[in-house]
Amino acid sequence: MNSLVLYYSNTGNTQKVAQVLATELGADLGEITCDQYLSFPGRLLMALDVFTRRRPRIDLVVKPSAQYDLVVIGGPVWAARPSLPLAAAIERGGFGGAALAHFVTCSGTSPKWPPERAIAEMESLSDVPPLATHIFREAGIASGAFRQEAAGFAAELRAAMSPAA
Ligand SMILES: Cc1cc2nc3c(=O)[nH]c(=O)nc-3n(C[C@H](O)[C@H](O)[C@H](O)COP(=O)(O)O)c2cc1C
Repeated sequence: MNSLVLYYSNTGNTQKVAQVLATELGADLGEITCDQYLSFPGRLLMALDVFTRRRPRIDLVVKPSAQYDLVVIGGPVWAARPSLPLAAAIERGGFGGAALAHFVTCSGTSPKWPPERAIAEMESLSDVPPLATHIFREAGIASGAFRQEAAGFAAELRAAMSPAA
């Protein structure tokens, strides 16, 4: 199975998860980058976009012309919705018939800002329904428990992709 784990990360949590997921799946790792949020006044623009839902300019740092059976795409939750670069990448699509899976990272501590809402929105942004989804919380990322969770998510995806599934 030829797989890609494609992620956007602003402060490093999603990057950590994506790296472990890619290792578990034997997948290529690709990054969604957003230069607009890095240069001045990037933080301000980002905060504004969270409210206006404007999609920023993104780039995909991926292996050129690779074909994938499975693309696992993830990023942070912002205001209970997918972060804008993540939403922009899902909408852009172009995964060539690959099966999709979604994940988010989040603090997951406030019932007012639930990550489940972001997962549901990600599904609505694409014509391809995800095979599986997963929510990784900061507490698990900080403690290292996310490694076990990532292994479980990868096993779920392998099973879903197997011919017998
Ligand atoms: C602008 C902003 C909004 C956020 N909103 C939420 C939220 O609604 N719910 C939540 O659980 N976490 C929220 N978070 C926490 C991030 O989702 C969490 O820290 C995530 O792991 C960051 O991923 P990254 O380090 O890959 O950028 C927010 C963080 C930022 C910066």
